[in-house]
Amino acid sequence: MVNVPTIQLSDGSSIPQLGLGVWQVEPEITARVVSDGIAAGYRLIDTAEGYHNEEGVGEAIRSAGVPRSQLFITSKLRNGGHARDAALKSFDATMAALGLEQLDMFLIHWPVPSQDKYVEAWKVMVELQQQGRIKSIGVSNFNQDHLQRIIDETGVKPVVNQIELHPYFQQTDKRAFLKQNGIHIEAYSPLGSGSVLKDAAIAEIGRKHGKSAAQVIIRWHVQQGDIVIPKSTHADRMAANIDVFGFALDSTDLQTIAGLDKGEGGRTGANPATADFLF
Ligand code: A2P
Repeated sequence: MVNVPTIQLSDGSSIPQLGLGVWQVEPEITARVVSDGIAAGYRLIDTAEGYHNEEGVGEAIRSAGVPRSQLFITSKLRNGGHARDAALKSFDATMAALGLEQLDMFLIHWPVPSQDKYVEAWKVMVELQQQGRIKSIGVSNFNQDHLQRIIDETGVKPVVNQIELHPYFQQTDKRAFLKQNGIHIEAYSPLGSGSVLKDAAIAEIGRKHGKSAAQVIIRWHVQQGDIVIPKSTHADRMAANIDVFGFALDSTDLQTIAGLDKGEGGRTGANPATADFLF
């Protein structure tokens, strides 16, 4: 079984660098998918209240036969739950669905700037962490202005910012600020929701190393030093996707992949500056 390296977060916790993302995994199959993932060696599982599959994740955790302390479970606060009372209720609902006493990491899912409540939500995250109910707190889909605001108003920095990131949407402009503030990037849609898998240049690099396109892309994320959470519902793909620690991309490969960035045109998901959906 593959041993995934860990990354140390700014609060001292360790997170596996590679995990299983369960966005778009149907609730009915989530327990099976996460069980297959854990059997393949995944220890970081990334869900959200908005994915409606936390129960399945909880079921898999209970039947895994792996000590709870070896698993790193992340969930996210829903967009309609930023106000203090709603946030506390949402967190309780997440913990009940997962069947957990303590969460390894909780993230604000989206800033929803038009709602202007993400600072209030961040204060609740800080409070829950102080109570020991969450080990690490972070955010998702935050731009620099959103991050600066929560840091200025609370003095507490998130340990990660989970953002869409893949070869077609590399977000290089975000790196310097995040690094300066000790905030790790966690890459979601790391395969571009599958769109980068058909890229000819990636396939060519794969042929050179005897690896699949998915393995090349995931290895690229690892070499960037980011945390990465590819999604698959197939056990064989999950096993292949985690098996990326026995080869390395060289500087020519990295240069080729750097050239695949399409900037804003490569984005597959919503834009955090304007996204205002309230689930
Ligand atoms: P599936 O779940 O059917 O395996 P991302 O992680 O960027 O969101 O990409 C997820 C998409 O990529 C899903 O459609 C998933 O399909 C597909 N995928 C994940 N791993 C592989 C792989 N190793 N080979 C082919 N497709 C993959």
